[in-house]
Amino acid sequence: MNFIRQPLVLLILGLNGAVSHAADPKPPVHAVDPVHPAIAATKATKATDGKAIFQAVCAQCHGANGEGKIEMKTPSIAGMPSWYVTTQFANFREGRRGQNAADAQPFMMASIAKALQPEQVKAVIGHVEKMPVVVPTGKDREMTNVDPGEGMQLFQERCMECHRYNASGEMAFGSPPLIGRQAWYLEEQLKRFKAGKRGAVKNDVNGAKMVQMAKLFIEDDQMLRNVVAYIMTLNPEPEQPAPLIEGSPFKDEVKTAER
Ligand code: HEC
Ligand code: HEC
Repeated sequence: MNFIRQPLVLLILGLNGAVSHAADPKPPVHAVDPVHPAIAATKATKATDGKAIFQAVCAQCHGANGEGKIEMKTPSIAGMPSWYVTTQFANFREGRRGQNAADAQPFMMASIAKALQPEQVKAVIGHVEKMPVVVPTGKDREMTNVDPGEGMQLFQERCMECHRYNASGEMAFGSPPLIGRQAWYLEEQLKRFKAGKRGAVKNDVNGAKMVQMAKLFIEDDQMLRNVVAYIMTLNPEPEQPAPLIEGSPFKDEVKTAER
């Protein structure tokens, strides 16, 4: 067996139980589709029902409320604006993201994106956008040995021009909201951009901007973690109502960080 494929195979085995439940009362999904149980689930859902597609396919990895799961390294996606999810699905489907089998997480997401029909993608994206944003808490939010004040300086000098002062994103620049994502996920993506593992494929115009930003302005791991720590402070406190993303500055003032 090719060792590169091994983690994916293990994941498939690990997921079988959950999936045959999701696809009940169909025959065991691994018998239907040997590639990935979530892919088999795509075939069991109605093409136009975004909610059903979410529950049968996405929830397995991203959680029932789209909150993401640290153990599967999946981002929270609930409430993500449809323009950004549309771009990312195109990236995953067309080999600009998740093209490398050795990079397990994006590779996995790419295989899911490729298995869905275009109408299914459209429907599920519409549903994701309507789900309430899940504000990160606990392990998804807390960081140690960081200086959010330093991070604020970098953010205001180099990041908010595109991601806006409150990190709620800007459609015109293709820059997504960064609030709502888990700290470890933001860290991981910044490392990928910096290493040219994301955004470096030809024709990935938006990804290329981030590769440049990360390479030019994020000097080391400490700086990277500091800026993520600052972004986390822009999230509302967990007990506050979930933020509205699109065109809605849910924070009027940039909070100075103290965590
Ligand atoms: C087999 C597990 C799995 C399934 C099923 C799955 N995803 Fe993912 N998804 C992932 C992982 C892992 C990542 C993180 C990729 C990375 O680290 O770059 C991801 C990333 C994403 C992203 C990128 C988020 C960002 O901030 O750029 C979107 C959007 C997304 N998934 C949407 C969906 C939707 C919608 C579905 C259902 C149709 C779905 N995913 C099903 C595992 C999965
Ligand atoms: C020139 C505009 C621009 C600037 C400046 C910029 N970004 Fe981005 N950023 C983008 C775009 C565009 C994307 C979406 C890339 C894609 O489509 O894959 C992005 C994506 C990201 C992501 C991935 C989010 C996700 O959900 O996967 C992170 C994290 C991020 N930026 C952080 C930062 C930080 C931190 C800075 C400052 C050091 C910064 N960005 C500066 C344009 C910018």
